[in-house]
Amino acid sequence: MAKWIVCAAWPYLDGRPHLGTFMQLLSADVYARYLRLMGDEVVSVSGSDVHGTPIEVEALKSKTTPRDLAEKYHRQMVDFLNRFLVELDNYTQTESPVHVKFVQDFYTRLYENGFVYSKKIWQLYCERDRMFLPDRFVEGTCPYCGKEGARGDQCDNCGRLLEPLDLVSPKCVICGLPPVTKESEHWFFDLPRLSERLKRYIQDSVEFPENARNFSLTWLKEGLKPRTLTRDNRWGIPAPFPGSEGKTIYVWMEAVLGYLSAVKELGQKRNDDGLFERFWKDASTKSVYFIGKDNIPFHTIILPGLLMASEEKYVLPTQVSSTEFILFEGKKFSKSKGIGVWLEDAVKVGEPEYWRFALMYFRPESRDSNFSWVEFERAVNSEMNDVLGNFIHRVLTFVKRFFELTVPDPGELDDDSKALLRVLAESWQRYTSDMNSFAIKDAVRDALDLARRGNEYVSSREPWEKIRKNDVASAAQTVYVGVQLVHTLSLMIYPFLPRSSLKVWETLGLNGDPVSGGAGGGGTAAIRPGHKILPPSPLFTKVKVGGTG
Ligand code: MF3
Ligand code: ZN
Repeated sequence: MAKWIVCAAWPYLDGRPHLGTFMQLLSADVYARYLRLMGDEVVSVSGSDVHGTPIEVEALKSKTTPRDLAEKYHRQMVDFLNRFLVELDNYTQTESPVHVKFVQDFYTRLYENGFVYSKKIWQLYCERDRMFLPDRFVEGTCPYCGKEGARGDQCDNCGRLLEPLDLVSPKCVICGLPPVTKESEHWFFDLPRLSERLKRYIQDSVEFPENARNFSLTWLKEGLKPRTLTRDNRWGIPAPFPGSEGKTIYVWMEAVLGYLSAVKELGQKRNDDGLFERFWKDASTKSVYFIGKDNIPFHTIILPGLLMASEEKYVLPTQVSSTEFILFEGKKFSKSKGIGVWLEDAVKVGEPEYWRFALMYFRPESRDSNFSWVEFERAVNSEMNDVLGNFIHRVLTFVKRFFELTVPDPGELDDDSKALLRVLAESWQRYTSDMNSFAIKDAVRDALDLARRGNEYVSSREPWEKIRKNDVASAAQTVYVGVQLVHTLSLMIYPFLPRSSLKVWETLGLNGDPVSGGAGGGGTAAIRPGHKILPPSPLFTKVKVGGTG
C-alpha cells in the first residue's frame, strides 16, 4: 500500500470555466479514485488560484472588488466540481487564511535560509493609470518567437516564461498606452544556487514524461535565472520580508505552495494534526501533479527548488502528468474568440458523468487532441452507450430473464469461455499497468475493449436461442462468464464513471462500493454461482448534440 499526494493545477478563475481548465481537476479526481480502488492511501488537493492580475484587471474594469469577484467565481467552480462528481479531499483557494499564513511562513524561512535577496529593478509603469504593470497588466511581442499578444509573464505561443521588460512594444492592458520604465525594489528567489541539485533531480526523475523531462533539461541548459518573488499588485498575499511593505508575493510563487497548504488545511478540517507531516515529510510518499504542458517548468523546477530551499525535507514531485493542448474543432482554445466548450454549456448537452468519460477518452496525453461535437456524440453514443452500457445491461438482463436474478452455475467451461476469462485477466492487467503509467486515455479504451470482447462472446453464443432450444447449460455458462466481465468492468469504470459504476455494483448485489469492496477480485471470476442480483435498468442514454456545433 502506497501513500500518494494527488494534485491538480490550481485553475485561474474567470467567470466561465471551460473544459480545458477542467481537464486537470478531473484527471486528479479520476486518478485519486483509481488509487483508492487499488487500496492506496490518498490525499487529493487543488484550489482556485484567485490572486494575480486577471481578477484584479477584471474587478477594475467591472467596478467590483477582486475579493468579491474571486469569491463568486470560486463558488461557481465548487458548484461545477460537485456536478461533475469531482470529489477532491480539499478544493480550497489561495485566499484561505491557512494558505496565506503558510506562504508567509514559508518565505520567511527561505529568507532566513539565505535564498531570498532584494534589489532595485526597472519596471514598466503606466503613467496614465499610475501603477506598475506586472504580468498580465502588460502585453506585447514575444522576444523569443515574435508572436504578438504575449503576456508579461508568459508567451502562450512558445511557452517561454517572460518578465514584462522582455516584451517588445509593450502596452498597458488597461488603457492600451505604451508604459514607461521606473525603478522599484523587489525580492528574488535565488534559484541558480540550486542548479546542480535540480539537474540531478531531473536526471533521476526517470518517470517524468518525455515532454516534461526535455522541457526541464532545456531550461537547465539555458541556465536558471533568479525568480522575482514580489509584485506591486495590491491583490495578493503581503510579502513578509523586512522592507517589503506594500508588495505582494507573485501569484505563481504562492499558488504553487497551495499543494502543501491545502493538505495542512485538510488536516485541520479533519482534526488530524499529523496528516500534513505524514504525507509531505515521509520520503516514501509519492506525488503526482496533473498539469497542462504550459505549467511544466513551474512544477519540475521551481516547485522542487522551493521545496529544496526550505530545507524541510518535503517530498519532491515523483510524477508530473502533463497534457498537451486540447483543440476544439481543430482550433486552439481561445476565450476571446469564443472557441472552446464551457462547463455551463456542457451540462446542458449531456449528463456531467458522460463528460467525465468523454474528457478522459480524448485526454491529450502524447499529442494535442481534437475535440469536436461530432466526436463527442460518437464517443458517448457509440462507445460508452453501445459498447459498455449495452454489454452490461444485456448480461444483467439475461440473469434476470433466464435465471431469476441468480448467477447460474457454469458447469464445465468450454474453450471459448476459458479463452474469454483469460482475456478478462489480461485486460485487467493492461488496465492497471496503463493507469500506473498515467495512460488514462488508454485505460478507458481497455475497458471498452473488454466490453467489446464480451459483446462478441455473447452474440456468438446466442444464449436466448439456447434457452429457446432448452440448452440451459450453454446459456448458463455464457451468462456466468458475462457476469464476471461485468464485475470487473464495474471496477474499471469506477474512476471515470463513479455513479454508473456504483449502480452496476449495487445491481450486482454487492455490498458497499467498489472501493470498500476492494479491487482484489478485478480480472478474476469473483462472482459465485447462486449469487443474487437486483433487477437491472439501462445504464446510459444517448445524447443528441443537434445545433450546438
Ligand atoms: N493558475 C495556473 C494556471 O491556470 C496554474 C497554477 S498551478 C499552481 O495556469 F501550481 F500554481 F498551483
Ligand atoms: Zn495604462
